[in-house]
Amino acid sequence: MLVNTARFVISSPEVGKCPTTNKHEYAFIGRSNVGKSSLINMLLGQKDLAKTSSKPGKTALINHFLVNDSWYVVDLPGYGYASRGKEDRIIFDKMIRSYILEREQMTNLFLLIDSRHKPQKIDLEFMDWLGENGVPFSIVFTKLDKLSMTAGKNNTALYLEELLARWEELPPVFMTSSEDKRGRDEILNYIEEMNKLPLLMDSKE
Ligand code: GTP
Ligand code: MG
Repeated sequence: MLVNTARFVISSPEVGKCPTTNKHEYAFIGRSNVGKSSLINMLLGQKDLAKTSSKPGKTALINHFLVNDSWYVVDLPGYGYASRGKEDRIIFDKMIRSYILEREQMTNLFLLIDSRHKPQKIDLEFMDWLGENGVPFSIVFTKLDKLSMTAGKNNTALYLEELLARWEELPPVFMTSSEDKRGRDEILNYIEEMNKLPLLMDSKE
């Protein structure tokens, strides 16, 4: 799929304030600093559309971007940012989780995992929570440019092996780098396929 246009629409502090739409929406989640905003810029072909930072905790709202006037990308705040105060962490956690559970337009959640790290408790627990709640999601390994080809393959294979020890099957998996644009076509094609499915929403607005 080609991305012809992509523009920022709005930042919302909670799911109830997100725009009323009847279009497919794809959200990106993962630990702070894993590369969500960078991946969105890479996918949409614009360097500074989503705000990125080398310091974790950059994205603090639910950000909607409209693509080709026909579907949305949503950049979410990261979870697990230890330097945030406890109160803040609870607020962000609630923002993220209620968006995921309540946003009917959200067709698929892309869960980002840093390809350099071993499975972390916080991500595994988050995936368990997604499974328990029947949230459709895919796994996106990020920052593969920071590893050699062999290390990238080995690390991600070990990661998936650990997941298979917990679950019977794996969700779709994407290997990406926002630096060298790896994985871009695969994710855009996947979205294109999902865009063809009818959008199921309880409350017609
Ligand atoms: P929060 O909004 O704080 O949750 O972070 P985020 O997940 O949106 O991460 P962001 O895209 O802001 O990227 C964090 C840092 O990682 C930045 O310094 C990026 O330049 C860097 N980064 C992101 N993706 C890649 C990648 O694929 N390769 C490399 N080498 N660096 C990356
Ligand atoms: Mg971000």
